[in-house]
Amino acid sequence: MTEQAYEVIVIGGGPGGYVAAIRAAQLGLKTACVEKRGSLGGTCLNIGCIPSKALLQSSEKYEEARHGLALHGVKLDGVALDLPAMMAHKDKVVADNTRGVEFLFKKYKVDYVKGAARFTAPGKLAVSPIDGGTAQELTGNSIVIATGADVVPLPGVAIDEQAIVSSTGALSLPAVPKSLVVVGAGYIGLEMGSVWRRLGSAVTVVEFLDRITPGMDGELARNLQRVLARQGFVFRLSTKVVAAKRDGQGVALSLEPAHGGPREELKADVVLVAIGRRPYTDGLGLEQAGVVTDNQGRITVDDGFATNVKGIYAIGDVIAGPMLAHKASEEGVALAERLAGQKAHVNYGAIPAVIYTWPEVASVGRGEEELKAAGIAYKTGKFPFSANARARANADTEGFVKILADAKSDRVLGVHIIGPDAGTIIAEAVIAMEYGASAEDIARTCHAHPTLNEAVKEAALAVEGHPIHI
Ligand code: FAD
Ligand code: NAI
Repeated sequence: MTEQAYEVIVIGGGPGGYVAAIRAAQLGLKTACVEKRGSLGGTCLNIGCIPSKALLQSSEKYEEARHGLALHGVKLDGVALDLPAMMAHKDKVVADNTRGVEFLFKKYKVDYVKGAARFTAPGKLAVSPIDGGTAQELTGNSIVIATGADVVPLPGVAIDEQAIVSSTGALSLPAVPKSLVVVGAGYIGLEMGSVWRRLGSAVTVVEFLDRITPGMDGELARNLQRVLARQGFVFRLSTKVVAAKRDGQGVALSLEPAHGGPREELKADVVLVAIGRRPYTDGLGLEQAGVVTDNQGRITVDDGFATNVKGIYAIGDVIAGPMLAHKASEEGVALAERLAGQKAHVNYGAIPAVIYTWPEVASVGRGEEELKAAGIAYKTGKFPFSANARARANADTEGFVKILADAKSDRVLGVHIIGPDAGTIIAEAVIAMEYGASAEDIARTCHAHPTLNEAVKEAALAVEGHPIHI
């Protein structure tokens, strides 16, 4: 067994791990990143954020070409879907991005170790190479666990990635299913449901709760559901899937009301299971190292990402908090800087969340239900995109911006947007919150005209009751 010693070893090459490794190396620490997938970028670049956004973009273009261009005076005949070409574009985007991370590793001198890491003792890892060669032993002063998350299985429903798929299978279906049943009305269900609906599937979403997108501001969620229903989504809320079995080429599902009642059968060509993700620590040997997890399998860490074992840290989806790529990356940077002796932290109050449906939905800070539950008095300012000149010119007027500000101090507590490019617009609100801005600060900031972001300024003006354009 060969042996190598490092100052920092990162296990997992996702947006948490690869970013931590690059930042540590930039700060002069001898760093290695162990990844067993065969390519860098983790879930996000390989089977998550990036391929799903490629398909969302491509399918939106297809839908626009079929239905959205005539009112702009653009006539198209014979619009047709070339699914293999769409998938090839997605695969190329993934390959370019993952190779890009490999290039960055070379540039910043991070050693990329291809293999599966397992703790043999605190500070010691055995790495089994993916190509089956000789195992390596790595020792590290600091070891960072960034092993991510995996699909939560649904009891009674065996995923085969063909007819019963997880998000991974849903990113590579060989043909457009006539009917798609999505289990779970969360991020994945609504994004991948949107892709396949735009390409021609009849999509039914089965959700256990009585609302979609739990955790999101309720008004936004209700609006999103209404718009998606108008697009053709069928929602079966307060309903659970108790079984799903292959039936010829398709799947036969048994549904039940969430809290019991008569069973009902439903058929589908494809079923997508998207009921959440759980921390992934399989085969990592956490017991050998003595690292503890909580009752949800998440690695327990303190404010500085340190586990209970000296020299072992964890970041990203494998610890508590939103399972988002940018949250993982922020943690990666903060931890690397701490390991280099700097003082860094993550502001968990200003992490945006975006669902890339059409319209997009984006939030930062707290929603109305959360503020009410915490007994915090707040003022609300809202502005619809239907009154925004740019949105009208774009013929994309669905949705609104909502700003929640502290009733006394006017400090922005949350910003919630449903509408065109909400995921990009939200950045302005994140910066405002990061700097502790008041609604008046946003209202008094000059916004270029005509832009969609003017809706944010107007919503801020509305907090004081005097928007100009409505
Ligand atoms: P991961 O990206 O999961 O990386 C962990 C890596 O560790 C994996 O590559 C794994 O192979 C490796 N690994 C595990 N165990 C070992 C071991 N023992 N040895 C070596 N390597 C190991 N988030 C967003 O912010 N925006 C989005 O648009 C978005 N879209 C998504 C779409 C889908 C379909 C999915 C599934 C997720 C999406 N996410 C999105 C979530 C995002 O992918 C995750 O939050 C993010 O990837 C977490 O990063 P991470 O570094 O913690 O873990
Ligand atoms: P999710 O947590 O977003 O949604 C899961 C949904 O399934 C919830 O509405 C939940 O109530 C429902 N559910 C749970 N058990 C159920 C059951 N037995 N029957 C029916 N419904 C059930 O999880 P999802 O969509 O799987 O995504 C996992 C995570 O990946 C997200 O939470 C997010 O962190 C990340 N992600 C982020 C994206 C983005 O940032 N745009 C895109 C895709 C994923």
